[in-house]
Amino acid sequence: MCGIVGYIGEDNCVPIILTGLKRLEYRGYDSAGIGMLVNDKCYIQKSVGKVAVLEEILEAGAVSSSIGIGHTRWATHGGPSSENAHPHFNEDRSISLIHNGIIENYSVLKKELLAEGYQFVSETDTEVIVHLIDKFVKKGNSLFRATRKALAEVEGAYGLCVISNKEPDKIVVARKGSPLVIGIGNGANFVASDVTPLIEHTSKVIYLDDNEVAEVYKDKIRTKTITDEEIIKEIQEVKMNLDEISKGGYKHFMLKEIMEQPESIRNSMRGRFLYEFGTARLGGLRTVQDRIANSKRIIISACGTSWHAGLVGEYMLEQFTGIPVEVEYASEFRYRNPIVDKNDTMIFISQSGETADTLAAMLEAKRRGALVLGLVNGVGSSIARESDAGVYIHAGPEIGVASTKAFTSQLVVLALITLLIGRKKHMSQIDGQKIIDEMQTIPDKVEEILKLNEQIEKIAEEFVDAKNFLYLGRGYNFPVALEGALKLKEISYIHAEGYPAAEMKHGPIALIDENMPAIFLAPKDSVYDKIISNIEEVKARKGKIIAIASVRDNTIDSLVDYTIKIPDTIRMLMPILNVIPLQLLAYHIAVKKGLDVDQPRNLAKSVTVE
Ligand code: G6P
Repeated sequence: MCGIVGYIGEDNCVPIILTGLKRLEYRGYDSAGIGMLVNDKCYIQKSVGKVAVLEEILEAGAVSSSIGIGHTRWATHGGPSSENAHPHFNEDRSISLIHNGIIENYSVLKKELLAEGYQFVSETDTEVIVHLIDKFVKKGNSLFRATRKALAEVEGAYGLCVISNKEPDKIVVARKGSPLVIGIGNGANFVASDVTPLIEHTSKVIYLDDNEVAEVYKDKIRTKTITDEEIIKEIQEVKMNLDEISKGGYKHFMLKEIMEQPESIRNSMRGRFLYEFGTARLGGLRTVQDRIANSKRIIISACGTSWHAGLVGEYMLEQFTGIPVEVEYASEFRYRNPIVDKNDTMIFISQSGETADTLAAMLEAKRRGALVLGLVNGVGSSIARESDAGVYIHAGPEIGVASTKAFTSQLVVLALITLLIGRKKHMSQIDGQKIIDEMQTIPDKVEEILKLNEQIEKIAEEFVDAKNFLYLGRGYNFPVALEGALKLKEISYIHAEGYPAAEMKHGPIALIDENMPAIFLAPKDSVYDKIISNIEEVKARKGKIIAIASVRDNTIDSLVDYTIKIPDTIRMLMPILNVIPLQLLAYHIAVKKGLDVDQPRNLAKSVTVE
């Protein structure tokens, strides 16, 4: 949520910040702003819309500076407007500040500050921090100390950067609940809300932890806790290259990421099979695997697409480990009084590793004594660092707001965990080896499905004007139906519902008429005949039907309007194959509607607010 980039060094910060903000636009894109020190004054420029709008304004003004901070916003408090865009500033504009997160006690603080004579120009929660800092600076504190004192009064989450024309040699940054990374350059330093804007400048980074504040000079960094303790931070090496975060010739990141899936799936599996023993090798779980196998219960918690992966995980783990599994929205888990203890294992799934609800649910489960595992893509992310143990999915950076390759990699890793724990329970070596054999065929099968891109694009043409869609599947394919519907909603703004196919007759069937397309996930499995009956029910009501079916199925074509034929696999791996045509269909419908696929309205890639 919201992107942050800052630079201090010898060069002009403007192009560095603008390029960085563009890389971060997936975190929010309703307004943007930059603050820098020009001729001993804080220069601030903001604009509504994407970073490109800000860029035009800056190019026209031709300002430059060797210290600056930039922000791309996803609105929480106060709509997208130039007043509400960051940076925010104090009355004499000597201090400017950008912030990612939410200040929960802002109305109390605002009341106090108003009573002290402070004036507010925006509707944001952020503005209270800049006035609080101003108050402490006026009492004689340095910017570094004033920021720490201000943050001691603040409740909520923040990743923030502050500059002041009175101390032009530093950027002060802080973190609690929202990520903040410092990039270490040569005679220059960088700050950002994640590593993507940093990697073209440096591979050396420092991840701030919660309650830490740093003073970043061009040639040194000093870090303290909010409570004034000096700390030495470890410098880490980031292994990511520019190709991984560029479109590589594709029109959209989403299409690139869909097409990358044979490779991302391979990467998620690489080196993780122990074929001889019919099991998986997951280094991150080595010390806890017996505890997982002995848990009374496994609870999977996540948000959005990652929650759908969790639902598939429930089917896999229950089928092969015999351990009862529950799946819960992280946002619900954290706000009830969950009965969780040391006998439970909780798996938190998150692409970004930064989703606020998932992180908070994980910390709550940890507090209650459960073993907490992180299944994340974001290397070095908060969930990865706070969990007891975990597994990286290794899907590579995912930039498109609608998650695609992360989902299939999450499923691969859930299958690996199922293998590992299943083998410690009742799964035989031969059964484990059969699963491994089948998993190894998945990347090639995905490749086969991706060849259907043109066929799917043609089908999409027929449905550009549809107002509603129904996605239906059973068993392992029910979560896929939910995920297919979510993909369509997110990027095409068409209302879509996923449903267990058999539940259709208990409600959604009332919606079916000749204008209602229904997508059936109809593989040749044990419930195939039942799915065919559900197809007949829709057909009898003149609904338009698209079926995702097996290449072996020669009878379904005569029953439905469109078929997309895909290779077979074992039940537990079917979701990985079945979701691919649904990703492509959603993508092509949205493109044909002329919509911004990579940055759909109102959404953000990484939701670091509640
Ligand atoms: C946002 C994104 C979704 C994502 C969800 C969970 O809503 O738009 O695509 O599935 O957050 O994100 P996470 O990073 O925790 O998987």
